[in-house]
Amino acid sequence: MKIFLKTYGCQMNVRDSELVCGLLQKNGYQIIQNLQKADVVLFNTCSVRQHAEDRVFSEIGKLKILKEKNPNLIIGVIGCMAQNHRDKIFKRASVVDLVCGPNDIDSIPLLIKKARSGHADNISANKAKREESVYNTRYNFDKNHSFVVISEGCNNFCSYCVVPFVRGRERSRDFNDVLSEIKSLVKKGIKDITLLGQNVNSYNAGVSFIELLKKVNEIKGLISFTFFTSHPKDVTRDLFIAMHDLKKLKKLLHLPIQSGSDRILKLMNRGYSVKHYKEIVGLYRKIVPNGNISTDVIVGFPTETKRDFQKSLNLFKEIKFDAAYIFKYSPRPHTKAAQLVDDVPRIEKERRHKIILDLQREMGK
Ligand code: SAH
Ligand code: SF4
Ligand code: F3S
Repeated sequence: MKIFLKTYGCQMNVRDSELVCGLLQKNGYQIIQNLQKADVVLFNTCSVRQHAEDRVFSEIGKLKILKEKNPNLIIGVIGCMAQNHRDKIFKRASVVDLVCGPNDIDSIPLLIKKARSGHADNISANKAKREESVYNTRYNFDKNHSFVVISEGCNNFCSYCVVPFVRGRERSRDFNDVLSEIKSLVKKGIKDITLLGQNVNSYNAGVSFIELLKKVNEIKGLISFTFFTSHPKDVTRDLFIAMHDLKKLKKLLHLPIQSGSDRILKLMNRGYSVKHYKEIVGLYRKIVPNGNISTDVIVGFPTETKRDFQKSLNLFKEIKFDAAYIFKYSPRPHTKAAQLVDDVPRIEKERRHKIILDLQREMGK
């Protein structure tokens, strides 16, 4: 049986796709790059913005012809969208045979078997933790670099964000398991890793995040590593000192600001002010000279006025990020912000998006 898998969304999903490929390989399946020749097509999906979901539905629509030619073809939607929509996917996309949420990826080989004789799904509401064995499959898309999950889920409930609803509450992996995964990756020739979590700074498994960084730094054969994502309310001076001191740790900080307006930050439930953010960046630049800093920002959050938007622009001018990811607000089911009126017109969101993008480009970074 040949499997074609396509990944959408964040680095967490990229790593999950590797785990799924590893599990499937272990179960005798072959991973292929040609969709036309596949017996099973899987989409590992993202729900963070409406646009991400629309793209998947349109890709699935295109498979109708393939399925008519080969009725035995199994089509699966896995990951965050599966969790977000559950059995609604079967209704909306009739060609789909299999649906599986991110907490249940270990059941995919079984679900494929079941799907041969009808619909198969596994969407558990909130599994405590993934089986550790899931992380020990030997499949890597990149032979030099690997993502390593240190925590799953998120407890922050930023008002716009669907992640806590699709990934569940934050669970930190045992640090010994994390370290042994990295050691086994290094044995396979991986030299560079990225520690992953929705909010790595709140990692807590008996050892703190900073203690974990120190332990990773000591792993023989590992050349360099970094981490992703940090939350401005949880980064500390000690983190920057560790970034300064630990030789293998790259001087990279991704620190999403989301808005330059305190009023909007409050509505977003971000838990910090613009002043606090600037203070952290000042400290980072002092302790980690030449450190790189990138961010995420959302334009057109409900009630965002031109003045609020101007404050985001001012912050960009002041901080001069090395890189920035700019998103147009998209209302998401279950979230608090979805109860607010999405009152910034699409065209105005596009205008603000372009202005901030042009500014970022103009600053030459
Ligand atoms: N855990 C990470 C990443 C979350 S998703 C963090 O907290 O930074 C990545 C980015 O998508 C977010 O930083 C945010 O800028 C953006 N995003 C999340 N939900 C969104 C929404 N509903 N509309 C527009 N952008 C959104
Ligand atoms: Fe979403 Fe906020 Fe958690 Fe990031 S920190 S995943 S934006 S709820
Ligand atoms: Fe990642 Fe998208 Fe899920 S950003 S956690 S794949 S909703």
